[in-house]
Parts: sequence; C-alpha cells; structure tokens
Amino acid sequence: MVSPSALLAAVAPEFLSTEPQSPSAEQIELRDGLLDRPAHIDPKFLYDALGSSLFTAITQLPEYYPTRCEDEIFQRHGGDIARHIGPVQALVDLGAGDCVKAERLFSSLRPSHYVPVDISADYLEAAVRRLKLSYPDMRITSVGQDFSRELALPDDIPQQRRLFFYPGSSIGNLGPDDAFEMLRRIRAACPDGGLLVGVDRVKSRSVLEPAYDDALHLTAAFNLNLLRHVNAVLESDFEVDDWRHVAIFNSELSRVEMHLEAQRALRVSWPGGHREFKQGERIHTENSYKFTPQAFSDLLHSAGYHDIEHWSDTRGWFSVFSARA
Ligand code: AVI
Repeated sequence: MVSPSALLAAVAPEFLSTEPQSPSAEQIELRDGLLDRPAHIDPKFLYDALGSSLFTAITQLPEYYPTRCEDEIFQRHGGDIARHIGPVQALVDLGAGDCVKAERLFSSLRPSHYVPVDISADYLEAAVRRLKLSYPDMRITSVGQDFSRELALPDDIPQQRRLFFYPGSSIGNLGPDDAFEMLRRIRAACPDGGLLVGVDRVKSRSVLEPAYDDALHLTAAFNLNLLRHVNAVLESDFEVDDWRHVAIFNSELSRVEMHLEAQRALRVSWPGGHREFKQGERIHTENSYKFTPQAFSDLLHSAGYHDIEHWSDTRGWFSVFSARA
C-alpha cells in the first residue's frame, strides 16, 4: 500500500526557483563589513548559542576580572546603591541573559515589575520560567529586542520610576557615538527614573590584555567561533584554522580591540562575492572601551543625566554608576 506522504509527494508539484534569493539585512551588513578596508564584523555575531556559552565560561576565568569586580561592588555597596536609586516600580534589565544579576537586586530594590530585555528571546524565556517560580507575585514581561537599535517597551510597563539596569560593562562594546545615543535613548524612556550601569575602567595593559587573551584560549575560541556563525548566516567558507585571535589594548583610543588575523594568504567566498586576505591581514571583531570615572561621568552629563554617583571595587578596576534621568 502506498503511504499518504508518498502519494502527496507524487502528486504535489515541485517548485524550483533559479532566481537568486535577495540577501537579508544581516547578510548585507556582513558582506559590506568584509569588503571594507580594514574588514570588520559586528560583535553581535559573537553570540550564537555556542558563543553565549563561551562568554559565560569567560566570566569564570581568573584573568577576566570585570564580572567578579562588579559582584564585589554590589556585595559591598548594595545598600548605598539602593538608597541612591530610591523607590523602583519597573526594573528594566538590558541584555538580561540568564537574569541572575538583576535577581540579586530584587531584595533591595523590590520592583513590582521586572522587564528583562535581550536579543535572544529563547534564552530569556527559559530564565523567566525559572524566575516565575521563585517570585510568583512579581509581574514579569520579557522583551526579545535588539535594544542597541531601538528601545520600544510594551505599553503596560509602568511609566513612573523605571530603573534601567545595564551591567557588565556592555556599554563599552559600543563606540562613543553609539554609547551616547544609547544613553539618550534610555533617558528618554525613563523621564523620572534612573540608570544603573557597570563600567570597566582604564588600567594597565598587563591586566587588560590577558583578560581578553587568556591562558586557556577561551577568548580565542569565542572570537574564532564568530567565523562559524558568519558562515551560517552568510553561507561563506571561512576555515577557522586559517585565523588567529589577537587582543590588544589601544591606549590612545582607550579600548581593548579583538581581531582575527589571517595566517596565510587566502580567499573567503560567499554567494555572489569574495574577499582576498593577505597573510597578517585582520578582521576587527570587537572594541571594549575602558573609562576613567571622570570620562564616564562626563558622558552621562552630556547625555542629560544628573545626580551621578559611582562605587568601585577595592582595586579600583571597575565602577557601577547610578544616575537620574
Ligand atoms: C560583553 N562584554 C562586556 C565583554 C567585554 O568585556 O567587552 C565581551 C568580551 N569580549 C571578550 N571577552 C569578553
């Protein structure tokens, strides 16, 4: 007897398109970045499923100090920070991920509404399901959004007393203009509220470079994995083995830069295009800006914030800023 699916396959018409598919916005962005001189790829491509897991592992490395420094600040100064912030209705968590950092603030800030925002909605859903069990009375609205482009929150989130939480020094992954624009966008979204933001500080090269080029080569794997993500999106043919991870502190621009360097002369191809790389040529994949407390205060002021306060870890390597919008 012929099965229903075999019957369907026999009678269903077969469509074969010979028209090239129009490239997606991400494919266009990747293609344009690869054809630029020097070539660059946006750091958001570091975060596919494996990249996100690698980043979580990086935060546990002895060389990668920011996460531990920020935790220390909240442990030592949590009470003062909560007093400076005052009452909070909605806690908006930018780049929430597993929501663990914000959860630690629940007992001191007591928000009635928690709004985790993350580009990866799937990851967020799992975290929110876990939170709901522990905090059954808290309203939680998760928002899957690339907030580096726009910040559109659902209408039912209280307008009053919003606190935007942007930890981990992720603001440092934006260039100066984009960081300014992001701070303005946040301020416009919380007229009588505030911002709590983690900021990595300028320090010696001997601390900064190992944090981005660790002995276990986890950061190298994190950077190289971006090529696999790019291959999946662009249908390109990057060979991971042809590239080497490079992390350098650019003291003039006050940022740690990550690059991928071609180990030999090679060609990378994708549908409808290609790029030749000489041996030693680099693709710029990430900037991580480091601030002095004064420089970050000035940035907050210029973006319209006031009543700015900051707390640091004992070594003065990292700061948490609280500011009113
Ligand atoms: C997410 N972000 C704050 C990290 C940083 O330190 O710039 C990303 C990272 N890149 C390499 N290691 C960690």
